[in-house]
Amino acid sequence: MQTAEPAQRRSDAAAAGGSSALMSVRGLGIRFKTSHGIWQATRKIDFDIAPGERVGIVGESGCGKTITGLSIARLLPNNFAGLDGSILFDGVDLATCSVREMRAIRGRRIAMIFQEPMSALDPVFTVGHQIAETLRVHTGIAKEEARAKTLDMLRRVGIASPERRIDDYPHQLSGGMRQRVMIAAALICGPQLLIADEPTTALDVTVQAQILQLLRDLSATSNTALMLITHDLGVVAETCTRMITMYAGEVIEDAAVDDALVRPLHPYTSGLLRSLPHLSPRGGKLPSIPGRVPSILDMPNGCRFKARCPHAVAGCEAEQELCDAGGGRKVRCWRFRELELPGALQHLGSAPIAAMVSRP
Ligand SMILES: Nc1ncnc2c1ncn2[C@@H]1O[C@H](COP(=O)(O)OP(=O)(O)OP(=O)(O)O)[C@@H](O)[C@H]1O
Ligand code: SF4
Ligand SMILES: [Mg+2]
Repeated sequence: MQTAEPAQRRSDAAAAGGSSALMSVRGLGIRFKTSHGIWQATRKIDFDIAPGERVGIVGESGCGKTITGLSIARLLPNNFAGLDGSILFDGVDLATCSVREMRAIRGRRIAMIFQEPMSALDPVFTVGHQIAETLRVHTGIAKEEARAKTLDMLRRVGIASPERRIDDYPHQLSGGMRQRVMIAAALICGPQLLIADEPTTALDVTVQAQILQLLRDLSATSNTALMLITHDLGVVAETCTRMITMYAGEVIEDAAVDDALVRPLHPYTSGLLRSLPHLSPRGGKLPSIPGRVPSILDMPNGCRFKARCPHAVAGCEAEQELCDAGGGRKVRCWRFRELELPGALQHLGSAPIAAMVSRP
C-alpha cells in the first residue's frame, strides 16, 4: 500500500496551520444534560484542517473523538446542552449558524460516515435510490441525471457491476460493499470535508485495507479533506498526513503523522505507540498504559493524564494549555522540551513508517 512521502506529509500538515485552513476549530467544548447535572464532555479543542488534508483523530475510548465529529456536523444527541468556542468552516461558524444554514452545508459540503453502515442506510429503499436522493435534495437535478451520477459514483468506489447493484437493497450487500455504498452516498455531492468515524472497524482486515486505500485515493483525486476517527494508529499511519491525539476530552498533541510516530512529544501519545502489539518484543508481555481515562464526573485538576504519567512531577498540578512546540506541532505538556519519549521506531530501524505501525 502506498503512503505519502514524509516531506509531503509534513508540508500538508504545515499548510493546515496557516490561513489556508478549510476548517478552524477554536476552544470547542461540548456540554450534555444528564440526571447528575450538566457534564462538560470536551473542552478547549483547537485544530485546523487544510483543503484535501487527511487528519487522524486518535485516543482511547471515551476521549471525545465521536462527539467532536458530531459537533462539527451538528448531529448532537437530544441531551446536548451547549457548545463553546467556534468551528469556522470556509468562513461560516458552524457552532452558531442557523439550522437552515447547517442543513445546506451538511451532506453537501460536509459529509459523515460511521462504523456500521446498516444503521445509516434505510433498509426499505434501494442503495441507488438513497444515493440519488441525497444528490437530488442538494442539487435539484433530474432523476435520470442523478441515476447516471450515482452509477458513476458506485463505479468510483469500486462496486463491481454497478448497473446491477444500484437496484439492490442494503441487506443484499456484504459489509464491505455497504461501506462502499456509504462512501458513495457521502461523496456524491462532492463535499469539502468527509468525517469518517471508525469506518473500517467492523470489517475484516483485507476489506479494511481496500476501504482505507479508497478513502485515501478519493481524498487525493477530489481534494476532499478527511477527518478519520479511529482507535487504530496503524490506520492513521497508512491513511493520514496529520495525527491529533485526544485524551479525556482535550486535544493533547497535534503533529504530522511521521513526527508523532518518530518522536511523540506527549507521554500519552508515546504510551499509545508503545502499546501497539506488534511493536512489543516477540513473546514478551504487551506494554499498556496503566490506569484508565478519568471519568467525566471526576476530572482531575491540572494535567488530566497525570495519574497515569510516568513523568508526572509537582508542576503537573497546574492547568496545561496546548502550546506551540515549533515545526507545526502542538502539545499539552509543559515538560515536552526536556522529555525524550520513545516513539514507534524504537526497535525497528529505518523501514517505511506505515509498514512498521500497521498490522502485520
Ligand atoms: N449523549 C451523551 N450524554 C452524556 N455524555 C455523553 C453523551 N455522548 C457522549 N458522552 C460522553 O462524552 C465522552 C466522549 O464520548 P465519545 O463518544 O465522543 O468518545 P469516543 O472517543 O468516540 O470513544 P469511543 O472510542 O469509544 O468511540 C464520554 O465520556 C461519553 O460518556
Ligand atoms: S504535564 Fe506532567 S503529568 Fe501531564 S503529561 Fe506532561 S509530564 Fe505527564
Ligand atoms: Mg467514538
